Amino acid sequence: MSHIQHHQPKHNRVMFLRNVGLLLLGQVAVASSLSVTSPPRVLPRASNINITSVATQGNGCPLGSISTSISPDGTTLTFGFDEFKAYYGPGYTPADKSKQCTIAMAVSYRSGQPFELLGATYRGPAQLGSGVTGTIYSSYVLTPASDAVASTQVNSTGPFMGVYTKSDTIAKSSRMLAPCQGTQVQLQINTRVSVTSRNASFSGGFDDEAPFSLGIHQLHLGWSQCGG
Ligand SMILES: *[C@@H]1O[C@H](CO)[C@@H](O)[C@H](O)[C@H]1NC(C)=O
Ligand SMILES: *[C@@H]1O[C@H](CO)[C@@H](O)[C@H](O)[C@H]1NC(C)=O
Ligand SMILES: *[C@@H]1O[C@H](CO)[C@@H](O)[C@H](O)[C@H]1NC(C)=O
Repeated sequence: MSHIQHHQPKHNRVMFLRNVGLLLLGQVAVASSLSVTSPPRVLPRASNINITSVATQGNGCPLGSISTSISPDGTTLTFGFDEFKAYYGPGYTPADKSKQCTIAMAVSYRSGQPFELLGATYRGPAQLGSGVTGTIYSSYVLTPASDAVASTQVNSTGPFMGVYTKSDTIAKSSRMLAPCQGTQVQLQINTRVSVTSRNASFSGGFDDEAPFSLGIHQLHLGWSQCGG
């Protein structure tokens, strides 16, 4: 991890993501209602959580191609990617079929009001021919919280042309809850975007567009209040 790059989110990018986030509020509401943490509930708000540092590494997120933001209500952490694209077909190497990004961040929250990772929504452009599948897999480690690794995964199967939106929830058995007594956790997110084809006669993409891209990765947060 010696080549980790530190950077500041770009302001205009954050504004853009905020607008896109509004478009996705429907999905957010659905994901939040699926998972109820122990009562009494804490009213979520942005001031309950701050990202204090972000470091990225990987061929899916070269320097300057990623942004981070938190929704005004504090329930959605959004990552925007400009270069997270997988290719396939003649002329592309096996390495082009699978791109990877590691995001290591420090997140602060109020003691006694921990957050929990509930799931993820992925969104991006895809041009998938028949027999072609795009897959996004993310693993999450929250330290200190648990040594369990949680994950989310979605598949998009061709034929498909357009912007996909896909969600997955984190299994209850690998609960990603920040400790009651702490005020800061490290969150590491490892994401892989890949494209596979059952059809050798297909070449990659159309009009020089990548067949499968991840544009936005949203993490849905739940809030709880520790007893006492
Ligand atoms: C987050 O930052 C804001 C603005 O500096 C501050 O008001 C708030 O208390 C911080 N929240 C936490 C949980 O650190
Ligand atoms: C493979 O691609 C060809 C050419 O576009 C198409 O006709 C055929 O249906 C595809 N095969 C499969 C298994 O999707
Ligand atoms: C996605 O595809 C992989 C590999 O084929 C499979 O193991 C996984 O169950 C699929 N996931 C979903 C959510 O369909």
